[in-house]
Amino acid sequence: MPQRTFSIVKPDAVRKGFTGAILAEIEKAGFQIVAIKKQSISKEQAKGFYAVHTGKPFFEPLCEFMSSGPLFLMVLEKDNAVADLRKLMGATNPANAEEGTIRKKFAGSIQENAIHGSDAEDTAAFEIGYWFAGHELI
Ligand code: CMP
Repeated sequence: MPQRTFSIVKPDAVRKGFTGAILAEIEKAGFQIVAIKKQSISKEQAKGFYAVHTGKPFFEPLCEFMSSGPLFLMVLEKDNAVADLRKLMGATNPANAEEGTIRKKFAGSIQENAIHGSDAEDTAAFEIGYWFAGHELI
C-alpha cells in the first residue's frame, strides 16, 4: 500500500544549490512527489511545526535556522515511505550518517542537516496537514 510522508529541503541545502540533487535522489529511490512548494516560513510557524521539541536546548536556534531563508515543503509517496525516506536521509547528525545517504552527501551539521523527514505515520499526517491544504494534494 502506498504511504505518504512529509519532507523539507532545509534552508542550508537551498542556499548551497543542492535542491535539484536532493530531489533527484528522492525520485531515484522511487518516491512520487505528490506536492512541493518553495516558501519562506516565519519563526512562529517553525515553532508550531517543531512543537514536540519545545524546551530542548536546540529548539530556539533550530526555529531561527528554519526561518532564515526559503525551503521546499514536500509530500512524498511510495510503499513504506516513512521508513524508506528516513533510511535515504541518514542519521540526524551527518557525522554519523551512512555513506550514500542524503545527509552524508549534503548536510553540514546536526542542525543544518539538509533535509527533514517525518519519523512515523501519525507524525506524517500532522506535518502534511500543517503545511498543505487537501486541495494541494493531487
Ligand atoms: P529534523 O529531522 O528536522 O528534526 C528536528 C531537527 O532538530 C533535526 O532535524 C535537526 O535539524 C535539529 N536537531 C536535532 N537534534 C539536534 C541537536 N542535538 N542539536 C542541534 N539541532 C538538532
